Formats: sequence, C-alpha cells, structure tokens
Amino acid sequence: MRFSSSVLALVAVKTIHAATHNVAVGQDGLAYTPNTTYANIGDTVIFSFYPINHNVAQGPFETPCQDGNGNGISSGFISSSEGVANRTFQITINDIKPIWFYCSEKVGGGHCSKGMVGVINPPQGDNQTLAHYAASASNVSTTSYSEPKQVQLGVVVENSAGNNTSVTSASSGSATPSATAGSGSSDGSSSYGGSTTSMSSGAGTKKTNGASYIDARRWGVGAVAGGLALALL
Ligand SMILES: *[C@@H]1O[C@H](CO)[C@@H](O)[C@H](O)[C@H]1NC(C)=O
Ligand SMILES: *[C@@H]1O[C@H](CO)[C@@H](O)[C@H](O)[C@H]1NC(C)=O
Ligand SMILES: *[C@@H]1O[C@H](CO)[C@@H](O)[C@H](O)[C@H]1NC(C)=O
Ligand SMILES: *[C@@H]1O[C@H](CO)[C@@H](O)[C@H](O)[C@H]1NC(C)=O
Ligand SMILES: *[C@@H]1O[C@H](CO)[C@@H](O)[C@H](O)[C@H]1NC(C)=O
Ligand SMILES: *[C@@H]1O[C@H](CO)[C@@H](O)[C@H](O)[C@H]1NC(C)=O
Repeated sequence: MRFSSSVLALVAVKTIHAATHNVAVGQDGLAYTPNTTYANIGDTVIFSFYPINHNVAQGPFETPCQDGNGNGISSGFISSSEGVANRTFQITINDIKPIWFYCSEKVGGGHCSKGMVGVINPPQGDNQTLAHYAASASNVSTTSYSEPKQVQLGVVVENSAGNNTSVTSASSGSATPSATAGSGSSDGSSSYGGSTTSMSSGAGTKKTNGASYIDARRWGVGAVAGGLALALL
C-alpha cells in the first residue's frame, strides 16, 4: 500500500511538469489567443481553429510571413464556417528555441500582415519581440507569403467538440460560398496530403518532417491519449 501510493505520488509529480497550452486561432479576429506562449520541453501546445480558414506556419524572425527553409511547424489550412473546427493541430515542445509563427491565408490583404502572428518562447532581453515581428509583417506582400506544403512537426487531430460544418443544411447556403472564398488562391489545403499515419510513428513527439494526420475514427482516442501519455513522460 505504502509502495503503491508513493509510486502514484511520483507519477503525479512527473505529470505536473508537462503542461498543455491552448491557443485559439482566429477566435478573436485575425489573431492567435494568446499570441505568446511560454512552454517547457515536453509540453503540448494545442491550436484550435475558428472561421474561416487559417493555418499555423513557422518561419524565421527576420522574414515574417515566410517559412524560410520550410522545415518549421506547419498545421496546414484548417477551415470552419462556424464555431470551432473539427480538427486541432498539436505540437510537442522539443527545445526552448523561439518559434515564430503566422497565418499565411492571403485573403483580405493577408492574415499575417494584418497581425495574425504569434510566438512560443520569445527570446528574453532581446530586440526580437512579437511587436517587431508584427510590424515588419505588416509590410510583407501576400505574393511573398509561403508555408510548408505539408503538415509537419505536429499532428492534426480530429476535434470531437468541432462542428460538422459541411452537414448543416440550414446555414450551408451562405456558409459554403464564404468558406470557398476564404480558401481561394492561397488555400493550401488541397496540397496538404492529409495522409493518415499511426501515432506509433511518434510523429507528435519527435522532430520529423513526415506529414501526419490522425484520424480519430480510425485510430481512436487511445492514439491521442497514447500521444499525451508519451508527452507526459
Ligand atoms: C456549432 O455551430 C452552431 C451553429 O451552426 C453554433 O451555434 C455552435 O456554437 C457551434 N459549436 C461550436 C462548438 O463551436
Ligand atoms: C536593440 O535596440 C536598441 C534600441 O533600438 C538598439 O540601440 C540596439 O542596438 C539593438 N540591439 C541589437 C542587438 O540589435
Ligand atoms: C499580443 O496580445 C496582447 C494581449 O492581447 C496584445 O496586447 C498585443 O498587442 C498583441 N501583440 C501583437 C504583436 O499583436
Ligand atoms: C514598413 O514600410 C513603411 C513604408 O515603406 C516604412 O516606413 C516602415 O519603416 C516599414 N516598417 C518596417 C517595420 O519594415
Ligand atoms: C460529424 O458527423 C459524422 C457523421 O454524422 C460523425 O460520424 C462525426 O463523429 C461528426 N464529427 C464531429 C466532429 O462532430
Ligand atoms: C470537418 O470540417 C470540414 C470543413 O468544414 C468538412 O469538410 C469535413 O466534412 C468535416 N469532417 C467531419 C468528420 O466532420
């Protein structure tokens, strides 16, 4: 008895160190909320997407709205016509280097240029601030926007709390055209393969460029729980 309770206590202490951070994408206009996240190694950051069409793409501080070598985190475009989208993007923090990210949706003058930028673990005591990143982003033409063409360094997970936007008949008359407009020329969603992969590949917990899409209908909640359990270790 004594042994098992101390084992439980140890497990409890261990799990405290891995936290989950939630970031709402586009819930408060063209913004990530919060736009700054401080996360430890092993923590999970979950991005939840709101209308109409957004992504999370990482790029160098010096070139906002661009993916640099294209090796950073990338959610792919995730759309919703109303309410939270039926998919989330989840990453596990592997180091404490700053992750500057932006939305590369080009409609309306470009989301990145309109202030849809964020950072995980900004450098301390440095001139590299999110305000500076946003200021230079405001000058970037959408013609130079870029984003990785695949989901990488994270996993797309079906969100059971999401809305089945394509099934709502009453609102489909207006919702569908606007969703289409929002995913016009800049919509990268069609180029994201969405290849289904097993969580056992460790896609969510390792640095890998492999595209990954977790289909909960196929892999079930256990895959997500398994991923979280790995993250908690
Ligand atoms: C789903 O959409 C309905 C309207 O179609 C809305 O009232 C509801 O809040 C949405 N749910 C979520 C979880 O966003
Ligand atoms: C940081 O900004 C200050 C004030 O603008 C400037 O004097 C300084 O040279 C900058 N430092 C670096 C490393 O860019
Ligand atoms: C980041 O969010 C804070 C809190 O909402 C806000 O005050 C600040 O202006 C935002 N920064 C940028 C660069 O958008
Ligand atoms: C943005 O462009 C304006 C006009 O060309 C320029 O004055 C300003 O310095 C630029 N800002 C940044 C942060 O590059
Ligand atoms: C959406 O609807 C399909 C079919 O009705 C259902 O199987 C699925 O669980 C629903 N997904 C969400 C996120 O509500
Ligand atoms: C999820 O949302 C997308 C876009 O709104 C829709 O096309 C798709 O059918 C939805 N899938 C499920 C399982 O609800």
